[in-house]
This record gives sequence, C-alpha cells and structure tokens, in this order.
Amino acid sequence: MNTFKLDTLYASLHEAKEAVTKICLTEVSVGIILGSGLSAIADALEDQITIPYSDIPHMPQSTAPGHEGKLVIGKLNNISVACLQGRVHYYEGYSAQDLVFGTRFLHELGAKTLFITNAAGGIRENLREASLMIIDDHINMLGINPLIGANPDKLGERFFDMQEVYSKKLRALADEVLTEITPSLPVSHGVYLATSGPSFETPAEIRAFAALGADAVGMSSVPEAIAAKHMGMEVFGISMISNAAAGLSDEVLNAEHTLNNAALGAPIIVDIIIGMLKKL
Ligand code: HPA
Repeated sequence: MNTFKLDTLYASLHEAKEAVTKICLTEVSVGIILGSGLSAIADALEDQITIPYSDIPHMPQSTAPGHEGKLVIGKLNNISVACLQGRVHYYEGYSAQDLVFGTRFLHELGAKTLFITNAAGGIRENLREASLMIIDDHINMLGINPLIGANPDKLGERFFDMQEVYSKKLRALADEVLTEITPSLPVSHGVYLATSGPSFETPAEIRAFAALGADAVGMSSVPEAIAAKHMGMEVFGISMISNAAAGLSDEVLNAEHTLNNAALGAPIIVDIIIGMLKKL
C-alpha cells in the first residue's frame, strides 16, 4: 500500500461516515461487531436506525450465512451504539484491509470501545456447546495481518503493543456482570485462535492448536481486534461456543448447526453487554 492508497483509505472512511451522518447525526461511543447467528443482538437497540451496507460507500458486503450486512445504530442503556450486523471473513476472498474496514468505520463514527462477538468451536474440555468464553488473548493463524503495507499514521502507530488487546478492565467488568445476572452459567476465559476457514479444522489441527495454547477456534475477529488495538480502542471479545471442535465429539460439523447453536447465546450476550454498559 503506498501513500496514495492511504489517502484513498482516509477518504473512503470519510465518505462512509458521511453517508451515515446524512441519515442520522449521532456520534456513537460504542461499536459492536455481531458474529454468526448473533445478529439478534442488534434487536435490543432502542431508537434503531438501520442502514444496509449497500448504502454505505466502500463497506465490504458480507456473503457468509447468518451475516445480514446492515449497520444498526441506536441506544443501549442511553449510550449511542453502532452495530455491524454481519462481518466479512478472509475465506470470502477479501483482503486483510477489507476485513477491517468495518472496524475502522466504527472508529470513524466515534466508537472508542469495541465489543467483538463470534461463534467458535470449543477446544478446552469445559468449552462445549452453549457455553461462553470471554476472550483473554488470541493466536493469529490466519497468515495475514491487516496492518501489512504502509502504516495509516492517522489511525495509529506502525509498531504497537499487543500485550493487552482485550481490555483487562472490560474483562473484569464482564465477570462482575455475569456473577450478578447468571451466577450458574458456566463462563470461562480463554484464548481464541483464528484460522482462515472455510473448511472446518481436522482433528490433527485441533490437537496442534490445543498444544499451542488455544481454547477455542474460529474464522474471524482477530483482524478486527488488531485494527482496533492499533487505533487505541478498548476491546472486549466474547465467543459463543457453538460446537466441540473437530475430533472432540461424534458430531458432524456444519454451518447450520453452528448458526443455530450460536443463536442460543444472543440473549445472554445482550444482557452481558447491557450490564457492562451500565457500569462503564
Ligand atoms: N471451527 C472454526 N470456526 C468455527 C467453529 C469451529 O469448530 N465453530 C464455529 N465457528
């Protein structure tokens, strides 16, 4: 990426924001990226305004099942929130920079805090269908980094610290909220590992990932978290465990099953996010 392309990036972000400000003038303070099967989280927003990605210039279109491709702006607990109802993935053929346009766009709209949600396969023994994992850290096995190329200096520094991508403060807040709202729900903390997909993993890959220290595996989120950290956003990540990862159960892995199981987590994730926003 040369300087000219960086100018294009800044202009594209500006144009995308302008398309939104023509419809509603709100500056948002929180961004939420909704994962597979979790789009119902946007339904919790009050005074909603929905804008299809096709009306937002430069916004990459989502082709994955369960990713609706809409921006939903509204209020949660009186805080202005922008939700990306649908994300794009590397397996859809997008470039690393395309994967994070939405994250940068949320930042352009004013978001200082980013909630990232996803569906994931559970690797660690206690992470099975219908449990939640608060993301403490990640392992990037995508083989790409959205910041390769000329650094967009207006967004953040070339080299930056990745020791606390997922805010300690927000993780502690989530624990506090969880003990208040569902003391009996099994919630763990762990490491999310991102692979490219679209094929699910082989059992040998899952054994290798476990040895590397991964607790859950998925096909998203890591590029977004990197880009958000680059811009100095405070990041919170949560995985809805939709299945046991490959080789850990007799189940055949398929997208429909994953989506259906992930959807079960939407109401509790809404409660967690609302609870956290009350305490922010
Ligand atoms: N592997 C990768 N991505 C996933 C999985 C999985 O088992 N479940 C949900 N997303």
